[in-house]
Amino acid sequence: MKKVLVTASALLLVFCCTMCRKANTAAQQNDNNFDPRLSGGDATVFDISSGSFSNPYSDMGYWDAHIHDLGDKVFSQVFVAAPAPYYGGLGPAYNNTSCTNCHHNDGIGIPTVGQASSSLLMRISIPGADAHGGPNPAPGFGGQVQNVAVYGTQPEATVSIAYAEQVFSYFDGATASLRMPTYTLSGAYMPLPAGYMLSPRTAPPVFGLGLIENIPEATIQSFATANAAASGIIKGHTNYVYNPYTQKTELGRFGLKANTSSLLVQVATAFQQDMGITSYVQLKKSLYGQTQYATVIDTAGTDVADSILNAVTFYVRSLAVPARRDVTAPAVMRGEALFTQLNCSGCHIPTMYTGVNVTLPALSNQRIHPYTDLLVHDMGAGLADNRPDYQATGTEWRTTPLWGIGLLEKTNGTPYYLHDGRARTLEEAILWHGGEAQPSRDQFTKLSKTDRAAVVAFLQSL
Ligand code: HEC
Ligand code: HEC
Repeated sequence: MKKVLVTASALLLVFCCTMCRKANTAAQQNDNNFDPRLSGGDATVFDISSGSFSNPYSDMGYWDAHIHDLGDKVFSQVFVAAPAPYYGGLGPAYNNTSCTNCHHNDGIGIPTVGQASSSLLMRISIPGADAHGGPNPAPGFGGQVQNVAVYGTQPEATVSIAYAEQVFSYFDGATASLRMPTYTLSGAYMPLPAGYMLSPRTAPPVFGLGLIENIPEATIQSFATANAAASGIIKGHTNYVYNPYTQKTELGRFGLKANTSSLLVQVATAFQQDMGITSYVQLKKSLYGQTQYATVIDTAGTDVADSILNAVTFYVRSLAVPARRDVTAPAVMRGEALFTQLNCSGCHIPTMYTGVNVTLPALSNQRIHPYTDLLVHDMGAGLADNRPDYQATGTEWRTTPLWGIGLLEKTNGTPYYLHDGRARTLEEAILWHGGEAQPSRDQFTKLSKTDRAAVVAFLQSL
């Protein structure tokens, strides 16, 4: 009898949940129907360890799990120079030897250049645009400075980073030290072109990307339309970028300026530009057409098999999002209220739904909390790289998804924030906000010490 009752209530629960899932618009009005910890909907995992970004979503089918594991293996594989029986094709010039050397534990990395665990790379271009409206490649260097090379090839240049500390003082006497980076190229293998522009970028986390990929284009466009219609200072816009595989212009959602439209292209371009590895999507070596290339032996065919590129793409598509912690702690709840009050949520949009995906149910029709609008925003002169990337100008950056941000210390040992890892604390990251985010940042600086700590506590709970 009891058993029947339990089964009946379980069925009722399943029924109700199914109803809620289907009635998105109604459910969106009522937050109480949902567990706020489930940042990635069904693709959420409960893990607070250093491996919290490295889990596949649960209930993955046998075959999908197999492909995920294969992709995982390749993601952490160190590639070597050709000729090699396995994992050859590195370089001849590159930035690092494996995906995981930059994306530590599938998260961020270290904002340095030239060491084994260095995760910062430097984009380069000259004024003007390429045939598809993208960055204009720098003659002899292409779109990215490859600062390491295999034997017999010269690195394109050496990148050095210097920081100048500037102290910020709050009204209550508390201080924070902000470090402003400057980047210099030296030892270039040939003269650098006049007027070259650089964009420093550190590796962002790679979990939750299948959900990001499944947010309907109309949703992202609606955020831009709302910004344009509103009277406020926030004027985020979409970035439309060229997809070299489909050969179409598409909505950008990956990369720090929303400069890539698809995960497949993002992964193929990482292989090609960051490691010098060719694939069916990026057929040419990163040095192709450059003076050093003729001296390099090229083997027939691509460096990685089609199935390998697809597996690594599926790996990043299927990494789950870690659940929130401490959601009912008073400081966290206070911080969450302030996050809305300061209009941080004007760009870091908390809640949205993914579209229907018939092959991957864990990513389909999910209520997610990525804390981004995937738009690019003017963030002011302090954060500017002054290098346009399609329709993202030299002051604009994609709103960083904040999910998982409280676990960066766990996954990376030392956390770093912002596109070039200049911020060492969440507080520093907020203080760097300028441009469209200046009013939010200014309001943050006027909060009491306790309230400032509450905002940080909220971020740490994500
Ligand atoms: C030299 C360091 C480095 C290496 C090696 C590297 N990445 Fe990245 N990765 C980055 C940086 C920097 C970005 C941001 C790029 C941009 O803004 O265009 C990035 C972005 C990404 C993104 C998009 C994330 C997002 O939120 O939009 C994915 C996915 C990714 N990398 C996967 C890979 C894979 C797979 C590999 C190995 C094949 C790899 N990366 C190798 C540094 C690296
Ligand atoms: C106008 C849009 C906008 C507003 C408003 C805004 N942000 Fe951001 N936020 C961004 C963008 C864009 C970035 C990426 C900047 C960069 O990397 O240089 C970012 C980055 C961050 C980061 C660093 C994330 C990381 O992993 O590196 C944190 C933390 C953050 N924002 C918190 C906040 C808080 C708290 C507020 C409110 C006080 C706020 N933001 C208001 C757009 C905004």
